[in-house]
Amino acid sequence: MEALIKVKRYNPEESEETYFQDYSINVAEDSTILDSLIKIREEQDGTLSLRCSCRASICGSCSMRVNGSAKLVCKTRVKEISPDGEFITIEPMGNFKVIKDLVTEMDSFWSKMKSVDPYVKTSFEPEAEHIASNESMTHLLGVMNCIMCGACVSECTAMEVDPTFTGPAALAKAYRFVADPRDEEANSRLGKLNENTGVWDCTRCLACVEVCPKDVAPMERIVKMRDLAIEEGYTNTSGYRHTESFNDSIKKHGRLDETRLALESTGLLNISGLIDLAKIGIKSLMRGKLPPILPHRPKDMKKVTSIAERLDNQGKEEE
Ligand code: FES
Repeated sequence: MEALIKVKRYNPEESEETYFQDYSINVAEDSTILDSLIKIREEQDGTLSLRCSCRASICGSCSMRVNGSAKLVCKTRVKEISPDGEFITIEPMGNFKVIKDLVTEMDSFWSKMKSVDPYVKTSFEPEAEHIASNESMTHLLGVMNCIMCGACVSECTAMEVDPTFTGPAALAKAYRFVADPRDEEANSRLGKLNENTGVWDCTRCLACVEVCPKDVAPMERIVKMRDLAIEEGYTNTSGYRHTESFNDSIKKHGRLDETRLALESTGLLNISGLIDLAKIGIKSLMRGKLPPILPHRPKDMKKVTSIAERLDNQGKEEE
């Protein structure tokens, strides 16, 4: 069958400009996108750069954007993406610096991984046996499946805005050790992850969960670490105050009180934060975007508040 592939090209030795190049190649019915790219490189264009190794979705090196979303191209079949012979657009991963064509620089990815101390910290003697329950290890398997392909980072909307955010891959890795019963530093790990660029910077857009080829579900691990941090008493953060204010607002008014949310998230004793907020408030007012000082009352306020109460009670029972 014929595969039509459009590749985003970039070669800084020739030009800083990127451009798209179209290829048409005959491949077997069950070919993967990686098979097609390798065939293009071998038969049509030896200048095309890409990274791959295992060709079996194990090494994590072939992550690229396929039609706008990160995938392992060795796991993705041409037929699945282009059932009727449509063009398939291949780009390098997002949120990574591109070295050439589809090859990205992974330095920032690895330094973020290192920043979460990705190893068990224990005072046990190396020779001693430390038995962890099957249950706890089975739970951790979900995160240990991560092959560090970077797909989650590629699609992270928070990193797109703030590249200093630790990001879904490193935070999922952090969870692997926070939840490891053999690790003795969970509390201090949570304290660190609770700071700026940590767990509270995730916008919970779910993009990382959707693209992860190994179902690691990074966002769910991040949310779990927020809960654990709160349980450990780390509550002096705008993220925690935001959560509390949001919940309170829905329970009281049946809708979000945005003005109060902004004030309470910043912290009423945080003078410099409040001054910054006032500047944003003035700009919003001038553009007619300032939320109402008193929130509107929804028609079915009772219904909404009772749902919020019910969810709250359900959460408490589950604890
Ligand atoms: Fe190893 Fe795709 S080549 S994961």
